[in-house]
Amino acid sequence: MKISVVGTGYVGLVSGTCFSETGNTVTCVDIDPKKVESLKKGKLTIYEPGLEVLFERNTKAGRLNFTTSLEEGIEGAQVIFLALPTPPGEDGSADLKYILGVADDLGKILKDYAVIVDKSTVPVGTAEKVTAAIAKNAKVDFDVVSNPEFLREGVAVDDFMKPDRVVVGTQSQRAMKIMEKLYAPLVRQGNPVIFMDERSAEMTKYAANSFLAMKITFMNEIANLCERAGADVDNVRRGIGTDSRIGKRFLFPGIGYGGSCFPKDVQALGKTASEFDYDFKILKSVMKVNDKQKTKMMPQIKEYFGGDLKGKTIALWGLAFKPHTDDIREAPALYNIKSLRRAGAKVVVFDPEAMDNVKGVVGRKVKYAKSMYEALEGADALMIMTEWPAFRTPDFDKIKSSLKNNVIFDGRNLYALDEMEEKGFTYYSIGRKA
Ligand code: UGA
Repeated sequence: MKISVVGTGYVGLVSGTCFSETGNTVTCVDIDPKKVESLKKGKLTIYEPGLEVLFERNTKAGRLNFTTSLEEGIEGAQVIFLALPTPPGEDGSADLKYILGVADDLGKILKDYAVIVDKSTVPVGTAEKVTAAIAKNAKVDFDVVSNPEFLREGVAVDDFMKPDRVVVGTQSQRAMKIMEKLYAPLVRQGNPVIFMDERSAEMTKYAANSFLAMKITFMNEIANLCERAGADVDNVRRGIGTDSRIGKRFLFPGIGYGGSCFPKDVQALGKTASEFDYDFKILKSVMKVNDKQKTKMMPQIKEYFGGDLKGKTIALWGLAFKPHTDDIREAPALYNIKSLRRAGAKVVVFDPEAMDNVKGVVGRKVKYAKSMYEALEGADALMIMTEWPAFRTPDFDKIKSSLKNNVIFDGRNLYALDEMEEKGFTYYSIGRKA
C-alpha cells in the first residue's frame, strides 16, 4: 500500500518506519526542513532503541521517503496519517491548530479517495472537525478515521510491531477494510483490531493514559502511606499485582510520572470533562498528587543536611523522564534541579542520552559530568531520578570513595534495603524504610 505520514515527531517517525517495514511505501512529510534534510541523509532525529535498523533498511530499499511538501507526500497515498503535535493550550485543552491546518490543506489537494487517519491524541469530536475542515474544499470522497497510538517511548518499535490491540474508530466499511489490511501484519498473534465509532476511539486513548497515570499515582500514594505506616511498598506491590484483576504492570512507585503524554492527556481529559459539565474528581487528584510527588525527596534531603543546602553539591543521575529515551519533557529531574538550586545547592548531572536536551533547557545552571562516576566526585549526596540499567548495579565502593557522605536519595527504588545497610549507606527511597 502507498501511505503518507504527516508529522515526523515521535509517533510519526515510528509509525512511518514500521509501516515501511511491513512492505508499504511510505512518505513522511514535515514542515521542518532541517528535520527532513537530516532524515533524507539517513540520520534519525529521535533516539529510539531498535528504530535505526528498520530506518536504514527501508530508506535503502526506497520504501521510506521524506519531503517537506504535503502535495508531493500524499501523491497516490491510500492512507494519510496525521501524526501532528497537540500541545496543551493555555486552558489545558489540546490545541488542534496543526491538525486542522493540515486538514484544510488536504481538502484543497486531494486528488483521489483516501483514508485520513488521526494518529495524534485528540479530544472527542476531532474526527468530525477534521472531516469538516477537509470537506470545505474537497472534490473527492474521503473518510476520516480515529486510530490512536499506544506506543511507549523507549520500546516504541516493539509496541508498534506487536500491539496489544489496535483501536480504529470509523463507521465507513471502505475505510475499515483498508485499515484492516494495513494492520494485518501487526496483529497476527491474535491481538485484535477493535472497530468502534470515532468518538469512542478518541475517548479510549485519553481513558487509557489517564487510567495508567491514575494507577501509578495510586501506588505513589500507597508508597507515601507505607513510609508513615512502617510498611514496604515493594511487598504491597507484589501482593496486589498478582491479582489478575489489578495486574503487575504500571504499579511501580517513584518520583512521579512525566513525559509528553500522561501530564498533557490527564489535563486534556479534565478539560473535556469540564466542557461537558462533568466534575472528574479523580483526575484532579491525580494531577495534584503527581505534582507534589515529583519533589517529594526535597524535604528529606534538606533534613539530612540540617535544613540547609547552601554550599552543598548534589550529584543527579538520570535526566530523561524514563530510561531508554532522551526525552526530558515534564521529567521529574528538571523539577528537582530547580528545587535544589532554589535551596542553594549546586547540581552535577549525568544521563546516558538526555544531556544535550538538558543543556538546551537548563544551560550552565548545572554542571555536566562525562560519566556517572565523574558526577559523584566531591559531591555531598547522590540523587537518582531515572532507572537507567547502568544505575542499577553500580560500583558501590566507587560511589563511597567519591561522595563526601554515604547517602543516596533514590527516586526509583533501584537498590535492596538490606544491601544498602550492609554497605553502610544512608538510603532514602520511595515507600520503604529509610
Ligand atoms: C505513555 C503510554 O504508556 C503509552 O501507551 C502511550 O501511547 C503514550 O504515553 C502516548 O500517549 O504517546 P510514555 O509517555 O512513552 O507512554 O511512557 P510510559 O512508559 O507510559 O511512562 C510514563 C511515566 O510513568 C514515566 O515517567 C514513568 O517513569 C512513569 N511510570 C511508569 C511510573 O512511575 N511507574 C510505573 O510503574 C510505570
